[in-house]
This record gives sequence, structure tokens and C-alpha cells, in this order.
Amino acid sequence: MENNNTRRNFLKQTAILSTGTIIGSSLFNSAFASETALNIGNQNLELDNVNAQGLYTLPKLEYNYDGLEPHIDKATMEIHHGKHHQAYVTNLKKAIETLDKNLVEHSKSLENIFEKMSKFPEAIRNNGGGHYNHSLFWSLMKPNGGGTPKGKLGEAITTTFGSFDEFKKQFSDASMKRFGSGWAWLVVQDGKLVIGSTANQDNPLMRLRGKGLKGKPVLALDVWEHAYYLKNQNRRADYIASFWNVVNWEAAEALFNS
Ligand SMILES: [Fe+2]
Repeated sequence: MENNNTRRNFLKQTAILSTGTIIGSSLFNSAFASETALNIGNQNLELDNVNAQGLYTLPKLEYNYDGLEPHIDKATMEIHHGKHHQAYVTNLKKAIETLDKNLVEHSKSLENIFEKMSKFPEAIRNNGGGHYNHSLFWSLMKPNGGGTPKGKLGEAITTTFGSFDEFKKQFSDASMKRFGSGWAWLVVQDGKLVIGSTANQDNPLMRLRGKGLKGKPVLALDVWEHAYYLKNQNRRADYIASFWNVVNWEAAEALFNS
């Protein structure tokens, strides 16, 4: 029961983060106590990233490690979720312990961290981003996923990019062109769908100086080599092609509509 509650609570957090709205910490904390869950058909877009004590924790996946086979292999999922994502969570907690007192209060939600990103040390940026990005990424995939987005997101993609195939091409291009490690994104920026990418574990919610991608995430793809090297070695294009077979479009549409 506790696990279900915390997962619902993180979902609420994700939905709030996704709005890009600046929310006071008291309201935000009250959201943690909410039982609201975003149910998408038979899918629960529920990600837990905080436990009952308010500490960041590794979310449980909604599918088994082999659930995305043959497109994304079990060994990659075991290491990606159980080792890499776990390391971001562990190192985020360690980094929080080293913060100045005035920043500790602001570190209790990822939303607050991202809002004040430039005030935090690099370890919080890397590991907080890594925790959020991966939590989101797991929810945006599912067994027997793929196909095409329906509803308002499907309409918006066609209107913006001309066709779903053209959208896929542009998103795949952004994924390929991200030099080194990073993420490709579909975001809502000023009311419009925009494709872009970020380096390392940065994400479009982080308030950072410069021209980096900003917006509310709708779709995310991890293009770090750790996401595909075991199965695809250096062939990022093969991994990107596989991703389209596991996309959870219902989850993406829920983010779009939130
Ligand atoms: Fe990753």
C-alpha cells in the first residue's frame, strides 16, 4: 500500500513538473499527499521517486526487465534501471547531504531543484536530472507499445510536422545528432510542439542560462551509450529504430494533455 501511495505521489509530481508551472513549495508538498493517479486506459503512469520519508528512491518499473524484448533487451534494462538509475538516486541523496542549509529546503522536490538549477552544485544537476529523466523515460515505454499517437497529441504532431513519419524522422535525427551523451525530447514550448535535445542529464525543465531546450516534456529518449551498448554496441540508429516499437503513446498523450 505504501509503495502504491508513493508511486501515485510521484506521478502527481511528474504531472506538476510537466506543466512547467511555478508552484510554491507548500502547495507542491501538499501534492505529495494526494492520492491522485493518472490512469491511462489499463496503464498506470505511476512513477515513484520519493518514499514515505520524502527521500528520493528508485521507482519500480511497470513492466518486467524482459518486457520490452526483443526491442530493448533484458540485460540492458537490468543494468540501466538497477545500476545506472540507482546510482543517480544514491548520488543525488549524497549530494543533498553536502548542500548548504539554505539549499536543503529547496532540494526536497525536483521541481524546486530545476527551478533554481543554477544555484545548485553540478552533482545535483547531474543526478537530479538523471533521476527525473530516467523516471520519465521508463513511463514512456511499455511492452507491445509503438504504433502511432492518437487523440490530441496525434493531431498536434500531424499539424506541426506534416505527418507522423516526418515527426519520427526529425526526432530520430535529433537523437542521432546529440553529440556524446544526452537526451532527445519532444516538448511543448510556448504552446507549440518542439523537438530538441539536451546534453548529459540536463532536461528542458531546468532553468539554466543559455539557449538550451526549454519546455514541458512529452516524449524523451535516452541516447547515452549505456542505454544501448550491450545490444546494439555503437549503432545508435538501431536503438532509435527499436524505441519506436516500445513507445507508450498513451503516457505521452497524458503528459501532453496535463
Ligand atoms: Fe540512461
